[in-house]
Order: sequence, then structure tokens, then C-alpha cells
Amino acid sequence: MTFVQVAQPTILERGIIMLTQAVFYNFYFFLYLFAPKTAHRMVAYFEEEAVNSYTNYLADIDAGRHPNPPAPEIAIKYWDLAPDATLRDVVLAVRADEAGHRDRNHDFADQLVGPSEPSSAPAAIPEAAVETESKAGSRRDAA
Ligand SMILES: [Fe+2]
Repeated sequence: MTFVQVAQPTILERGIIMLTQAVFYNFYFFLYLFAPKTAHRMVAYFEEEAVNSYTNYLADIDAGRHPNPPAPEIAIKYWDLAPDATLRDVVLAVRADEAGHRDRNHDFADQLVGPSEPSSAPAAIPEAAVETESKAGSRRDAA
């Protein structure tokens, strides 16, 4: 609702958004039903893209390419912002939320991977590096 107040989309734009959400809702319902890990991972990447978009938005505000009006009252109440908060403060708060959503969804996807397939396992060491290390170790032993 915050960005509806900020951007004030037309009725046509609102209709397009609602139609897109209806299509996505049904797609996502079935994705989650049959592939919940992929569903969480996909949302995590969407959230990452949101973080990047809000970062670009902040850069535009800071460069003066986008106005920085006072924050809407609904945003001040929701994010408990200062009474004189601006759009920039709202974008910072929203970006922090999106980063949290990204991390939670990656966590959920990791949990669904299960213990037999740890996603955070260290990368395998290439065989050549192991050989180099063992040679270096044998040289150290000889010295
Ligand atoms: Fe989000």
C-alpha cells in the first residue's frame, strides 16, 4: 500500500498488477505443491532482485533523479519511522525487509534439501591442489 500511495498507479495499471498476481498465485501454488524447495529458492532470488532494485532506487534518490518526498503515513506507522521520515527512509526499511525475506527463503530451501545433501558444504578441493599441498608438506618435512 505504501508504494501505491507513492506511485499512484492508474486503474489500468492496478488491473494489470492484479491479473499478474492472479496468474502468479496459481503458478506458485502448484510449484510449491510439487517442488517446495525450488519455490523457496525462486522467491529468495526474487527477493535478492528486489534488494538490488531498491539499492538502485536509493541511488536515484541520492543523485536527485527521483524526488524524496515525505514518507506516507502508512509507511511511518508500519515501519515505526520518525515523523519526519522521507521516501528514502521507507526504501531503506523495505530493502532491509526484502533482505530478510531473501535469507529466510534460502534457509527454508536449505532445510528442504535435507541432511544427505548439505547445501552449505565446503566446495571440493581440486585434486591438483591436494597434490601441491602434500608435496609442500613433504618438502617441509624434509627440511
Ligand atoms: Fe519480500
